[in-house]
Amino acid sequence: MRRTTTILIVALLGGAVAWWWLFAAPSVTTAELPATPAAIERGRYLVAAGGCVSCHEGVEHPDSLSGGMALESDFGTFYAANITPDAGTGIGGWTGTDFLRALKHGRRPDGAFYYPAFPYPSYAGMTDQDALDIGAYLMSLPAVAFRPPDHEVPVWLFRWTLAGWNHLGSVLNPEPPDEPDPVVARGAYLARHLGHCGECHTPRNGLGIPDQSREFGGGVLPEGDVEAIDTDALADWSAEDFVLFLSLGLKPDGEFVGGGMEPVIEHNTSRLTIEDQKSLAAFFLRAN
Ligand code: HEC
Ligand code: HEC
Repeated sequence: MRRTTTILIVALLGGAVAWWWLFAAPSVTTAELPATPAAIERGRYLVAAGGCVSCHEGVEHPDSLSGGMALESDFGTFYAANITPDAGTGIGGWTGTDFLRALKHGRRPDGAFYYPAFPYPSYAGMTDQDALDIGAYLMSLPAVAFRPPDHEVPVWLFRWTLAGWNHLGSVLNPEPPDEPDPVVARGAYLARHLGHCGECHTPRNGLGIPDQSREFGGGVLPEGDVEAIDTDALADWSAEDFVLFLSLGLKPDGEFVGGGMEPVIEHNTSRLTIEDQKSLAAFFLRAN
């Protein structure tokens, strides 16, 4: 009898710990949102480097980030959120802490989990300062009232299932080692985090978790296979080739890139400074 009670207590305690481990609010520092012109300007650049426009460009209000774009995936159709500061339908009233939670931990201000159609697993590695400056810029934009449609997901795909998915992802994919060269390190930061290149170019397992042991080894999108851009695949590219590609989408074979890469060139890589383009080249071609 006493043994059963002990087992029960241990099981309950274990359950409570597991519950806390899975669902606890992420610990983020309480942060004020900067509002200086310099922070807003940095944020504008980071929104380009983060490729946010590719998904959040408004379908009804194209000059805004009011969302509504349908994003197809193996797990359903997701609609990009309205990230203008509209109080009813967007992110009006968000604090710095809310931006850190959303971009770096995939959590809504009320604690609910985002679906990884929002590439927060990549953004998780961005610095707090970059996340806050992005927030400063978004809050400086005009508010647009628009409510995107509800996501179309299978009945079993509850938001809370992402609790386990997020933890499994961090267990399976430990942090890659730091790059000693500062230019390569800047390129790695842009590629792995802000530019989220791996979201499309890294293969995933059956649960949709990227397999970082084959980082940039080629992915699969609903519209077809995505080329590998690992050091083997890019062995014949020069730094000049890569910078030209990031600016114009022109490949060394004289063809323009198409498909899902076009918006990445248009909204993200072509808007980077030449230094950042060179850093990306240094990172991707570090073996050449
Ligand atoms: C690949 C498409 C994609 C990209 C790129 C993307 N997002 Fe999103 N974002 C989404 C989707 C889809 C959601 C809705 C997620 C959900 O409801 O679970 C979302 C949600 C959000 C939210 C939460 C809004 C809310 O009302 O709760 C914020 C904030 C956000 N994104 C900001 C950004 C920023 C900033 C960037 C660029 C650094 C970015 N997103 C890039 C697809 C994207
Ligand atoms: C939204 C998905 C997506 C993202 C994010 C993405 N790519 Fe791509 N990329 C593609 C697709 C799809 C293709 C193939 C397009 C085609 O068929 O022409 C491609 C092609 C390429 C190619 C050409 C490969 C070859 O050998 O032809 C390079 C290089 C490349 N991407 C680099 C990058 C870099 C660097 C980033 C991050 C800054 C990035 N991609 C982010 C989808 C993506």
